Amino acid sequence: MIYPIVKYGNPVLETPAETVTDFGTPELEKFIEDMFESMYAARGVGLAAPQIGFSRRIAVIDTSNGQNPDEKLVLINPEIVRAEGRQICEEGCLSIPGFREQVPRALRVTVRAQNVKGEHFEKTGEELLARAFLHETDHLNGRLYISHIGMLRRDLIRRKIRKLQKAGEWK
Ligand code: NI
Repeated sequence: MIYPIVKYGNPVLETPAETVTDFGTPELEKFIEDMFESMYAARGVGLAAPQIGFSRRIAVIDTSNGQNPDEKLVLINPEIVRAEGRQICEEGCLSIPGFREQVPRALRVTVRAQNVKGEHFEKTGEELLARAFLHETDHLNGRLYISHIGMLRRDLIRRKIRKLQKAGEWK
């Protein structure tokens, strides 16, 4: 099932998501399948559960855009355990469509998370993958990428979105 993507302005995006405690259930497997389907339909490389309206600490990532099944990643209850170096790159978010900003991030990041069975693992990524780990973990903490940019740019984006909301073009 493809869920619509929740947009900026919805409080679920700025609320820390709830820890997952039930693993290995058909419900969880189906939910993760739906998350991948929703992410691919929206042409994203990462998606966090709050972005489809569920306050659960689950994120999916595929930096190959569906081209390489080996790159499909499921992060449940993820935590950043190491972050080194620095990169500045353009970043966007499915929940803030139409905007992209230069965002400084760590270059090399290690995440610790659980898989669908509840097993713990660590994974290290660089560049785009490192950025995805940080972006998606932020989502699960109720934080959006625009909190990492300058105040003036952020206010400008907020003003533009408010205008779109008033015009009924942001739902
Ligand atoms: Ni996002």
